Amino acid sequence: VKRVAIFGSQGQLGQELADVFAKRGYETACFDRSCVDITDAEGVGKAVASYAPALVLNAAAYNKVDLAENEPDVAYRVNSLAVRNLAQAAHAADAKFITYSTDYVFDGTGDEPYREHVAPRPLSAYAVSKLSGEFYAMASSEQSLVIRTCGVFGPYGRTTAGGNFVETMLRLAASEKPIRVVEDFIASPTYAPALAARTADLVEADASGIFHVGGGEPITWFDWARKIFAAAGVTPDVKATNAREFPTPAERPRYSALSNAKMTALGIAPMPSLDEAIRSYLDRRATAASA
Ligand SMILES: NC(=O)c1ccc[n+]([C@@H]2O[C@H](COP(=O)([O-])OP(=O)(O)OC[C@H]3O[C@@H](n4cnc5c(N)ncnc54)[C@H](OP(=O)(O)O)[C@@H]3O)[C@@H](O)[C@H]2O)c1
Repeated sequence: VKRVAIFGSQGQLGQELADVFAKRGYETACFDRSCVDITDAEGVGKAVASYAPALVLNAAAYNKVDLAENEPDVAYRVNSLAVRNLAQAAHAADAKFITYSTDYVFDGTGDEPYREHVAPRPLSAYAVSKLSGEFYAMASSEQSLVIRTCGVFGPYGRTTAGGNFVETMLRLAASEKPIRVVEDFIASPTYAPALAARTADLVEADASGIFHVGGGEPITWFDWARKIFAAAGVTPDVKATNAREFPTPAERPRYSALSNAKMTALGIAPMPSLDEAIRSYLDRRATAASA
């Protein structure tokens, strides 16, 4: 039985990875922040060496894009130097290393889903820290796998500290306050359970290097919010806004949808549609809430 070490195992993706790999018959060891802080090189080295896994998965990240502008050093330690810790520990233990990066490595001047060969040009401290993490992952071993994803939403986001866009929209709808969502940014929101399953598919296809796994459907954040409200059967007061009316500390790419063509060319199943994903999300969320 192959052993998998999962770091950041309490995040919305980390919990899905634990479920998917266990279901596929792997033995999993889950390391959350309270047990191993990935910025602690010695702790990471000991955890990996003592478990001796075949795979090291990193689902931990610093995801506070706006806050990172004020504390770029913190973002860099988690998203870059800690990825180096994990990649080096995996390499020393002869394990394959898998980590996640972001659509924000691109500058957003494109107008079709980004392929892996397009040159990155990150616009923010968060984006630079994630891109630097990609370089460290690949520097340790050519067998490392870097999966860039986008706007991750999974049912575990209902209870994680970071949450996700769906939870934010449902909370705002319940508050009955007017909701403003940007219509001048296009992304490809990604369903965490499907992202975790495609991660296992990529590993089983022996993929290495950079792969994009986005939601497969470019959509504005405003339209995505409307889709969420329709699926949830709620009718809040939602209106479109834009970056000019609603400036943020961090600059973001205007267009950052990802193309999954490199992944599907390996014979791996495409991602579910956003309609299917949001239905599944709301079903699982309701089940979890009633449990
Ligand atoms: N969420 C998105 O929209 C999005 C978009 C593009 C790419 N991604 C990437 O996708 C991956 C998964 O993201 P996610 O949505 O699952 O994030 P998430 O739910 O915020 O989970 C991240 C986890 O990392 C943990 N963590 C943070 N710093 C740590 C440290 N120093 N040591 C150990 N654990 C630490 C967090 O713990 P605490 O709660 O204690 O901080 C949290 O459990 C990340 O690489 C992320 O950058 C996400």
